Amino acid sequence: MNKQMKVYLDNSATSKMDEEVLKEMLPYFTEKYGNPSSLHSFGKEARDALNHSREKFAKFLNCRAEEIYFCSGGTESDNLAIKGIAYAMKKQNKNHIITSPIEHSAVLNTCRQLEQEGFKLTILNVDNEGFIDLKQLENSITEKTALVTIMFANSEIGTIQDIKKITNICHKKKTIFHTDAVQTFAKIPVDIKKLDIDSLSIASHKFHGPKGVGLLYVKKNIPIESIVQGGGHEKGLRSGTEDISGIVGMTKAADIALKNLGKNYNYMAKLRDRLINELSKIENSRLNGSKGEKRLPNNVNFSFSGVEGEALIMLLDMKGVAASAGSACSNILKGESHKASHVLEAIKCPENFINSPLRLTLSRFNTEEEIDYAVSAIKESVSNLRKISPFK
Ligand SMILES: Cc1ncc(COP(=O)(O)O)c(C=O)c1O
Repeated sequence: MNKQMKVYLDNSATSKMDEEVLKEMLPYFTEKYGNPSSLHSFGKEARDALNHSREKFAKFLNCRAEEIYFCSGGTESDNLAIKGIAYAMKKQNKNHIITSPIEHSAVLNTCRQLEQEGFKLTILNVDNEGFIDLKQLENSITEKTALVTIMFANSEIGTIQDIKKITNICHKKKTIFHTDAVQTFAKIPVDIKKLDIDSLSIASHKFHGPKGVGLLYVKKNIPIESIVQGGGHEKGLRSGTEDISGIVGMTKAADIALKNLGKNYNYMAKLRDRLINELSKIENSRLNGSKGEKRLPNNVNFSFSGVEGEALIMLLDMKGVAASAGSACSNILKGESHKASHVLEAIKCPENFINSPLRLTLSRFNTEEEIDYAVSAIKESVSNLRKISPFK
């Protein structure tokens, strides 16, 4: 291999903050640091920034500004949507929730918590590319269904659901639909009106904004209750002083990404396809997820039989390539090293491939040179690991 490089291919875990975003945020730490709820001029300055961000996101998403609630990121946004809507609908005697088996743990564990509290939970089937069974969805909705929550695009295998078909089914059956768009927003177009979405979650750090900030969109008149009690910020739905610098940064990051959405899509998709082409040449390899158009432009997920996933990640790290086995939320650092990915289990990934997932997720900052370096690092690592593999 050539000279060692440092290549970051874990952009679905989190992404590098754009310098322009940082520049936009800095004055809100040291000069414009007022609390947006304060009456004085410092407060007004912060309030103006908050209102401006809300207006901007209403345009980005094609919804109304009053339908946007800022919060601390994807996990909180999913929790607020799912619990908030479920608790409100319970008062209308609806106690059934429908989701999919490939959701992020922010959704799956929230649904399981509600199940513990007495809600009924239906987890739909997905096919071997990760698409949900639309017929089963239609048949599962009853007059007791409070909410359907299905992720827009999958964080591990990149599969993009047909959201319009899903909302059509939900609305024909008069059911509320929430979607986790944490990996989707700023990668492909997300038009709330066109797709007829009732509720949607976004996290800033997935598109070169700061960590710890996100938002929830909830359509006007959808019943929802707050899940934390406090001073009644964000129209009473999400108490807690808003993170103005974070919100300003997230807005700038979205602005930059959406201005170049098509260009970035094509650029990342080209790098993705270069990776897929090269890695497919490795013997006994398998591309997990969709093979067609319905795959995020920045997602590659491969398995290599006879290779232990975590050993591959560690070896690649030694060569300067940062990759992951799947979601950063179920990793070795949390003591879950030998648990197979619930996403790969759900798509019925064959046994000889299930323990060796390699997720490579791109950003607009990656280069062709980095991809070529990563490909040789992966080929070399897979070959070396196979030589010493006990699974041969
Ligand atoms: C699909 C999805 N939902 C939710 C989250 C959680 O977002 P956050 O890290 O902002 O809490 C993530 C993060 O990986 C994600 O990929």
